[in-house]
Amino acid sequence: MLKIAVTGANSSVGQNLLENLKELEDVEVIAGVRNEKAISSLPNKSYVQPHIIDYDMPESLETTMTGADCVIHLAGILIETKHSNYASANVAATSAVIDAAQRSDVKHLIFISVVGASEMSKNAYFRSKGSAERLIANSGIAATIIRTPILLGPGSAGANAVASLAVSGKCKVLGGGFYSMRPLDIDDLSKAIIKLISTPPATVVTHELVGPQAATYREIIEKTAELMGKSVQIGKVPIFIAKIASAITSILKGGGITPTVIDVIIQDEVVDTNADEAIGITLTSLEDTLRKIITAGTQ
Ligand SMILES: NC(=O)c1ccc[n+]([C@@H]2O[C@H](COP(=O)([O-])OP(=O)(O)OC[C@H]3O[C@@H](n4cnc5c(N)ncnc54)[C@H](OP(=O)(O)O)[C@@H]3O)[C@@H](O)[C@H]2O)c1
Repeated sequence: MLKIAVTGANSSVGQNLLENLKELEDVEVIAGVRNEKAISSLPNKSYVQPHIIDYDMPESLETTMTGADCVIHLAGILIETKHSNYASANVAATSAVIDAAQRSDVKHLIFISVVGASEMSKNAYFRSKGSAERLIANSGIAATIIRTPILLGPGSAGANAVASLAVSGKCKVLGGGFYSMRPLDIDDLSKAIIKLISTPPATVVTHELVGPQAATYREIIEKTAELMGKSVQIGKVPIFIAKIASAITSILKGGGITPTVIDVIIQDEVVDTNADEAIGITLTSLEDTLRKIITAGTQ
């Protein structure tokens, strides 16, 4: 039997992956979440065993990973809150997972990073993911790092935003939405992870996996509206005004959209080589992904 441990199992990627893992015939999935409430969001499947993780208590992580053939580390954030920031969620949690994986003699780690991750980045989010990647690369454990762009699928934050803008009739987006994106269908990420589980690399491999088509954000909203049989007028929120407003509100709220998040959103998603062929998956067209979101009634 294949035993897989997943951190951040209640994340949108985690929930999708847990569903898709039904493809594997003989599998046990230890689904790591941080509290009881998160357990209720996990798919109710016979192969899913929920487990509460406390990242400050190494033994809780070790129990999750003991005997696992592969650990899939999904916990991580873009939007900071009062209780979770890049240092804790993206860096310290990764460090804790690596320590526990080393002690549990885990043979393969899969880590979900982001296109643009770099320790040298001026952007705190990309820097934190770059730091996490370095920790993984230096862990001595065979690891697969998958850098992804924005993920679209029923229930993902990105899909919720696109769907609600598409039905609005009239909306305003950052800079008019002229930045270029390569949205990846969340099912395609799960398919990639499932392929990679059974092919651990000798050392560390980094894949950049993006969707098959580039489109600007406004084109994605317009296409979604068209597929819904609606039309939408897209206006512009000047980026510098959005940054000033977000700087103030994020300080008052202790989290949320910040200038850092805005810079992530408006960065063009570009990769040299898409990893779909190397991984061996067929990507879903952007139009089919948008149709799935609409059918699922995501908003
Ligand atoms: N969604 C995207 O478009 C996208 C794009 C690129 C990369 N990624 C990466 O893919 C992974 C999954 O993304 P997602 O969008 O599915 O995530 P998500 O739905 O936002 O869920 C975030 C997960 O991280 C956990 N978490 C938050 N703060 C934490 C902390 N301080 N310590 C440990 N765990 C913490 C959350 O647990 P609680 O529920 O207990 O807070 C939750 O399980 C993340 O690593 C993300 O950076 C996502």
